[in-house]
Amino acid sequence: MLAEQVKELLERTSPTGVEESIIVQGWLRTVRHTKGVSFMDLNDGSCFSGIQIVVSPDLHNFDSEIRSLGTGCAVRVRGALVESPGSEQRYEVQAQEVEVLGDVEGDYPLQKKRHSFEFLRGIAHLRPRTNTMGAVFRVRNAASMAIHNFFQRNGFFYLHSPIITTSDCEGAGEMFRVSTLDADSPPRDEAGRVDFEKDFFGREASLTVSGQLQAEIAAMALSRVYTFGPTFRAENSNTARHLAEFWMVEPEMAFCDLKGDADLAEAFLKEVFHEVREACTEDLEFFNKRIDKTVHSRLNEVIDKPFERMTYTEAVAVLEKSGETFEFPVSWGADLQSEHERYLTEKVVSGPVIVTDYPAGIKAFYMRRNDDEKTVAAMDVLVPRIGEIIGGAQREERGDVLLGSMKEAGLSEEEYRWYLDLRRYGSVPHAGFGLGFERAVQFLTGMANIRDVIPFPRVPGYAEF
Ligand code: 4AD
Ligand code: MG
Repeated sequence: MLAEQVKELLERTSPTGVEESIIVQGWLRTVRHTKGVSFMDLNDGSCFSGIQIVVSPDLHNFDSEIRSLGTGCAVRVRGALVESPGSEQRYEVQAQEVEVLGDVEGDYPLQKKRHSFEFLRGIAHLRPRTNTMGAVFRVRNAASMAIHNFFQRNGFFYLHSPIITTSDCEGAGEMFRVSTLDADSPPRDEAGRVDFEKDFFGREASLTVSGQLQAEIAAMALSRVYTFGPTFRAENSNTARHLAEFWMVEPEMAFCDLKGDADLAEAFLKEVFHEVREACTEDLEFFNKRIDKTVHSRLNEVIDKPFERMTYTEAVAVLEKSGETFEFPVSWGADLQSEHERYLTEKVVSGPVIVTDYPAGIKAFYMRRNDDEKTVAAMDVLVPRIGEIIGGAQREERGDVLLGSMKEAGLSEEEYRWYLDLRRYGSVPHAGFGLGFERAVQFLTGMANIRDVIPFPRVPGYAEF
């Protein structure tokens, strides 16, 4: 079996005392030598806290090895877990043996001082060892599990939607091409255009922007499904809320309308955030203290308060009447910008808002046309600080109406044959949504830049590591 980790040791109800030995392994955050004794703060990432190792100069390798250990060194310690006389920690380890597993060279970039997040992005191979990134990774993990738990409790099946696709779900043309053609001299057809029939898949293919269309296929058989996977957008957005590769959670429900969809989104965020709050107390405490003082209060707002709901038309009226000068003017028919979304959640409501029934012209082809012919049964869930965290809709289940919307969007009937087929064979009202996982992690942690809540961010001009 694997050796015990710091988290397990710190959670013990009583220390083992001097007679029993435990083993801990990790990386040193700090080392302090005083006369007669040395202190090392050892962290293994299993939890926010490290454990203090007390080393006596009597150890055989003290002068030859231990004395020169510094930040970043990897060690294995055998010793006694005892109650700590200091007030900072409950337990500490009195070392009986310190084995140096990996020394650090003198230019180790993570010294015991504050580094900017921008600097840390450049050393993404080492930044998981910082307090902040360690906590981010653990919150990501807890949120992932909470998401699976929520759906599993509610009768949803986890669907593995494809990553390589030949359809553009959002119809925005922001796709990364997947091709094995020789970029220097691709085969060409008679008209001189690149001949994708000679490409790997015999046609143009891309990385998926969303698993929704495939989730709809599955929902038409299993009733409730969800995807949770990477999605890709080749949009040239250099903002603190956009990534070229991000993770999306997409439930899809048969026999569900827009109201049911919004209800699910609200219950989902409440339960997931609640579970993360329970699982990551220490990490969230850190975020609230050191990163963003509103982490706790914003989380409480989501968990405890019913979400406000308003139509797009109502939202536009509120914004127009606000007297606020926005960078982007507000007018019916224009998409809400993040400044508008934040104004609604932070100034008008002070909490999450679900905006529904957007103009058809600014939303995707698959959304269900409302009786007014002008709007669609869309919903966005907006939260303070982030703006849009979830986008969803009731889907157009009527074949003829769907075909009309597809034609308006310039989509090929032939290519979406299968999608139209679902409307010909046992079509039912259905709905779903997509949660931007990194935006949820931003909300949970208060991290200002989305690049700092994913292990290896991919953004325009950058795909290192
Ligand atoms: O609003 P979006 O584009 O909706 C869809 O893709 C639907 N097919 C979802 C569905 O109904 N099944 O994206 C959904 C969410 C957004 O609300 C946002 O949180 C996140 O995905 N998102 C991004 N996150 C990071 N970087 C980007 N470039 C993002 N684009 C969207
Ligand atoms: Mg959206």
